[in-house]
Amino acid sequence: KVVAVIMVGGPTKGTRFRPLSFNTPKPLFPLAGQPMVHHPISACKRIPNLAQIFLIGFYEEREFTLYVSSISNELKIPVRYLKEDKPHGSAGGLYYFRNIIMEDNPSHIFLLNCDVCCSFPLTDMLEAHKRYSGMGTVLVIKVSAESASQFGELVADPITKELLHYTEKPETFVSDLINCGVYVFTPDIFTAIQEVSTHREDQANLRHLTSFETLQSPTSRALPQDFVRLDQDILSPFAGKKQLYTYETMDFWEQIKTPGMSLKCSGLYLAQFRYTSPDLLAGGDGTKSASIVGDVYVHPSAKVHPTAKIGANVSISANVRVGAGVRLIGCIILDDVEVQENAVVINSIVGWKSSIGKWSRVQADGDYNAKLGITILGEAVIVEDEVVVINSIVLPNKTLNVSVQDEIIL
Ligand code: GDD
Repeated sequence: KVVAVIMVGGPTKGTRFRPLSFNTPKPLFPLAGQPMVHHPISACKRIPNLAQIFLIGFYEEREFTLYVSSISNELKIPVRYLKEDKPHGSAGGLYYFRNIIMEDNPSHIFLLNCDVCCSFPLTDMLEAHKRYSGMGTVLVIKVSAESASQFGELVADPITKELLHYTEKPETFVSDLINCGVYVFTPDIFTAIQEVSTHREDQANLRHLTSFETLQSPTSRALPQDFVRLDQDILSPFAGKKQLYTYETMDFWEQIKTPGMSLKCSGLYLAQFRYTSPDLLAGGDGTKSASIVGDVYVHPSAKVHPTAKIGANVSISANVRVGAGVRLIGCIILDDVEVQENAVVINSIVGWKSSIGKWSRVQADGDYNAKLGITILGEAVIVEDEVVVINSIVLPNKTLNVSVQDEIIL
């Protein structure tokens, strides 16, 4: 048997995701019309002999109750949310729930970061992992040398694929091969985490025994014994010991830390739906009469006027109303939004319950990595008729009656 664990983190981690993370935990923010965490979950569903899926985080339980029960029913696989009392780090969180994770006595444990967007080639990874017969296999990808420093950089043996060297977000360039945040382990991973944690405890005791003065030193502010990071504390020390291996993906991969990247990833997942869930894409069955361009998701409860033109990369959530003559390109329209006649929305995310007036334009250049590269309207923003909003971020509950450009409206 195999189990999968998805690390969802907690509220303090979502700060770069503001203002979209004010009321919705980032893992539940919709990409291609499905909560972010839904994409790794559906990939896990395709692993043979999968017994359970666990989401581990420190968000309040009630934030996930509804989602885990509906997804468990839909996929007919138990999906459980396990709440940490405090952050334990990406490996510490896994260790904290080791007894529950080992309930079904799995031979392998998948561990996935929630905030990555990829095709999750999990079954291929598992096969490779069995051939390598190490403790763990890390999904890796080649990226540009300039962007590599935002990730864990690593060196792998070109023949055996062994992980030889690992550095988390190094200041000087090490390698353009990076850690995708997707792993498969044998249960030996728990022993490895335990070792790190015991070593920490020994060091803490040692510091305690040496003089009072050291209490003021920087080392005395070391990490708590039960806080273990998978990258720095496990991958780095275990590299080059024939325990860790790599599996390189040639498919798409992105990290989702900002709203701009969520818009890009929504498009990547919509494109993937062509292969995995074509029924979710609008236009194919001819039931949506609006004109559809490229990959588009429209929630069944949304009302889109037949004269509107939608796409590419548009996802429209529940109860949205799109009026006559509206043009939507590259956007995420969240629940209960109204887009009135002849409005245009391009490269933007429109928050829950917002309203965009007649002949208005909400748009941006579409540079997903720039701070104001996409326009974001927070929850319940009102853009009045004939107002133009360009490259701006608007915080919740604002009313815009004049046009703005390159601004953050607080
Ligand atoms: N449950 C729980 N508890 N989850 C956590 C905790 C914790 O204490 N800390 C982090 N996470 C989750 C985050 O929500 C995220 O899904 C994942 O663990 C990794 O988060 P970070 O540890 O903050 O690392 P990162 O995202 O900056 O970088 C990691 O992922 C990159 C790939 O996206 C590193 O492993 C990089 O090397 C890697 O390239």
